[in-house]
Amino acid sequence: MQFVTLLLVAWASIASIDAVDIPEELQQLLKIAKPKDGSAYELPPLDFAYDSLEPFIDEKTMRAHYLGHHAGYKNKMNAVLKQWSETNEGNDLASQPIIDIIKNINDIPMDFRENLQNQGGGFVNHAWYWATLSPSGDPKAKRTPIEVVSEAVNRRYGNFQLLQKEFNETALNFFGSGYVWLCEVPPSNVLQIITFPNQMSPLAFDLKPILVLDVWEHAYYLKHQNKRAKYIDDWWHVTDWAKVERISKAWKGELNDAKDEL
Ligand SMILES: [Fe+2]
Repeated sequence: MQFVTLLLVAWASIASIDAVDIPEELQQLLKIAKPKDGSAYELPPLDFAYDSLEPFIDEKTMRAHYLGHHAGYKNKMNAVLKQWSETNEGNDLASQPIIDIIKNINDIPMDFRENLQNQGGGFVNHAWYWATLSPSGDPKAKRTPIEVVSEAVNRRYGNFQLLQKEFNETALNFFGSGYVWLCEVPPSNVLQIITFPNQMSPLAFDLKPILVLDVWEHAYYLKHQNKRAKYIDDWWHVTDWAKVERISKAWKGELNDAKDEL
């Protein structure tokens, strides 16, 4: 699967796909819009309590993951953004929202690029992970895609179970630290499961992510230890497809009256 990923990354970087603009509504959904007063980024607030994803994702992991790891990325990202803006080096990319900076990672001056890919990527990727989760009302209920995403899943994979099977195998076989993404590939927006190591973002390859699974060990080791398969299974229980649907609509500019839906 790693080989497939590398092939896809290579393809995505050279294929003549349309450049993707990032809609404002998407940044609002992820709660990572650039502060208007020029202040540093804050952690995107969670929609749920630390213990509310139990028994699938435990409170201890949530606190360490959000208040420890995500906050660490945020603090280090703010520091490097400040350093970069003070140098006036390069173009006006430093003044753009972080999601645009991550998308245009290759335009960042070399002095800051690797650091921002790691810290800024960690900030944005974790925001994406939280933005697609919610507590499960009924642990026995199966959560499934809805509306537009459901149709796209059926078109690409045949049915949701087949998507899950491929996604699970990809996540299970992923070596090292990183994320498994479900992306829309422009211009047709066909769905694609794709992995990226560390804090690399599919945005930098003009892909349009709608769902992400964090498979860094810090995301599950306290509860699941080495049982990544159980973590993946538990994660499906707290994946919120209504939120995934809104992200897909935001990409397409179809999020009507965004303020009401956010
Ligand atoms: Fe993480």
